[in-house]
Amino acid sequence: MLSWDEFDQEDSTTPVVEVSEKKPVNAEIATSVSAQLANIQSTVAAADERLNATALQQAIDELENLDITVGEEELEGAAMRVKVDDKRMINCRADLNQLVPFKYDWAWQKYLDGCANHWMPQEINMNADIALWKNPNGLTDDERLIVQRNLGFFATADSLVANNLVLAVYRLITNPECRQYILRQAFEEAIHTHAYQYCIESLSMDEGAIFNMYHEVPSVAKKASWGLKYTQELSDPKFETGSIENDQALLKNLIAFYCCLEGIFFYCGFTQILSMGRRNKMTGTSEQFQYILRDESMHLNFGIDMINQIKLENPQLWTDGMREQATQMILQATQLEIEYARDTMPRGVLGMNAAMMEEYLQFIANRRLVQIGLPEQFKNVQNPFPWMSEIMDLRKEKNFFETRVIEYQTGGALTWD
Ligand SMILES: [Fe+2]
Ligand SMILES: [Fe+2]
Repeated sequence: MLSWDEFDQEDSTTPVVEVSEKKPVNAEIATSVSAQLANIQSTVAAADERLNATALQQAIDELENLDITVGEEELEGAAMRVKVDDKRMINCRADLNQLVPFKYDWAWQKYLDGCANHWMPQEINMNADIALWKNPNGLTDDERLIVQRNLGFFATADSLVANNLVLAVYRLITNPECRQYILRQAFEEAIHTHAYQYCIESLSMDEGAIFNMYHEVPSVAKKASWGLKYTQELSDPKFETGSIENDQALLKNLIAFYCCLEGIFFYCGFTQILSMGRRNKMTGTSEQFQYILRDESMHLNFGIDMINQIKLENPQLWTDGMREQATQMILQATQLEIEYARDTMPRGVLGMNAAMMEEYLQFIANRRLVQIGLPEQFKNVQNPFPWMSEIMDLRKEKNFFETRVIEYQTGGALTWD
């Protein structure tokens, strides 16, 4: 372990050459050997010095010939100071390394809010869950199925979201304050994957089976491959925005991941696990999911703001055909999530059943449609789980955050003393 307190102490791992004094040697030979040794050492030192001087000169020469215009040709006007009016969500030509002046305050504010909500999975006590999981009478088979399926789906789903952000979306969103939030979101997705791994490890589950579920269980596999096809096209390094078709492909990717994956595919699982926590079962796992849900609501809201801003700046993209496709995507995602609900709840469990979940998902789908300016598709649906809205309510979330078991200290491990 490294410590600032020990920076001036000798490194005890340096090998020390010990001179044996057991065998007496001829004094004359000893003097000659030591003279030769000194000679060799000084020759080596001189060579080292020459080598250092040459290497240093080489470095200086390289720097003198450094071309400081490299990369600028990619962005015309990149050498100029950025004005707010130059900034655009996509296809922007202004310098993307200049964060200010801000144009999209909502993006910067979400970045600040995300940082203020930082948490780590190890802060949550998993002891009660371990005891309950190990107790053969602790949970019913249906309840165990819910825990296994959801850890299986989420353990890889957050990784799919992170990959999509880093490999497809990031370079195509040409705005620094949005990119700042995307980087924060990508790290939060890593924390979520960590949280699921932490639950799986705590409960001593079969890690291979859980992490491979997105290949093996049809209702999980379908959701994953539905999302993956939207990453595929955009992750091609040759893919560029700038044409209506490609800008619409980016828009579809954002709708697929923010509105459908994070906005619909997560909701059956979140509701099931949080319902378990409300019944005082798997409270540690449920608390992990609560923290994740809070992050996810912010990801979703950020994505919706991005989609609407792109629509506003590029009205030519929001054609009748595009509206129709966006509606279809939300309907397909809802259908897949209903199938997942039926697969994870073959019978009524935890005060809910697949039919109630179906209505809840249709209620959620209506919200997603309206959020991106499309008409509702499901008539007369109500929210059968009003307590879910309460959990997501901002004030409640704040209260929930204040009840954390361990207070998180940013950089708590470092001290300058
Ligand atoms: Fe996530
Ligand atoms: Fe997310």
